[in-house]
Amino acid sequence: MGYDLAAISNLLTQGLKAFESVADATALEELRREYLGGKGHVKAILGGIKDVPKEQRGEYGKAANVLNARITEAFQAAQARVGSTAAARPGIDLTKPGKRREIGHAHIITQTIEEIVEIFQRIGFSQVEGPEVEDEFHNFDALNIPAGHPAREEADNFYLQLNAPDWEAKPVPMLLRSQTSTIQIRTMESRKPPVRVIAPGRVYRPDTVDATHHFMFHQIEGLAIAEDLHFGDLKAVLELFVREYFGPETRMRFRPHYFPFTEPSAEVDIDCQMFKHLKKPWLEVLGCGMVDPNVLQAVGYDPEKYTGFAFGMGVERIAMLKHRIGDIRHFTTNDMRFLGQF
Ligand code: DAH
Repeated sequence: MGYDLAAISNLLTQGLKAFESVADATALEELRREYLGGKGHVKAILGGIKDVPKEQRGEYGKAANVLNARITEAFQAAQARVGSTAAARPGIDLTKPGKRREIGHAHIITQTIEEIVEIFQRIGFSQVEGPEVEDEFHNFDALNIPAGHPAREEADNFYLQLNAPDWEAKPVPMLLRSQTSTIQIRTMESRKPPVRVIAPGRVYRPDTVDATHHFMFHQIEGLAIAEDLHFGDLKAVLELFVREYFGPETRMRFRPHYFPFTEPSAEVDIDCQMFKHLKKPWLEVLGCGMVDPNVLQAVGYDPEKYTGFAFGMGVERIAMLKHRIGDIRHFTTNDMRFLGQF
């Protein structure tokens, strides 16, 4: 373009017109780049001043500076009229609140299990687990639930159809465990006394789903075996647990009950501040008892030498009581409005 004064004049006319008629911020940004950008017309003109022969340089430089000033003014005026691109680019609204990043956390059932297990760990119980697919020996026989016992009914359990070739030859009935008591057996089979374990896990029963029943739920099982354990030890352990978990004022009572794998057996009811809103003085929270000698025998422990106690509780039930949850189905529907509360 050199030092063509006419070119500067044309550029000024065109530029002013363009800035005056620009309609939106995106188009304005394009114009700004075309005229005022690092590689724009105005920069090129200003940069050309030094190449103009001395005699004409004054006049040319003046025209170039006027061009720069007026185009800059026109740009500012246009900007005031249509706004700046950053604020008005389609899809971007700087006044909107930012995106909140969801920070995940453990499910309320996991939290409940961890809190309960931790209390027992403090007094020497170690955490163990067991398989969810079990044989009848671990789910029933070894727990003193013999063939023909109603708890073994087809309709009360999820028996599995295992069709693998090696199963066909000698089919072994398998089922989804209906209680975590199976872990008592598995633990005793693999350890010598003394034993002190706490075992959380999923259990399965073909119950019709409603507000308080589900085909899958969680239990926490406890087992202690040693040479001289008695009912007083069971009571001390459970008393510590209920006071730690439900509050120091909690009262506890044993109500005689029947479980095949313990003798004597009891259910534990508690009375605590936490459940005042339920207006029921005693609420059942777990089952327990002294391990039946038949169970010790089934795993090869000498019932003349060893005694022990066991207990089991339903995690969903405890979480529902503690957090005033009205429907067990909330735990498995993955509704963030529910899960986010815990
Ligand atoms: N397995 C029992 C149930 O599913 C709960 C239970 C009761 C576990 C007494 C125990 C126990 O270890 O001693 O209903």
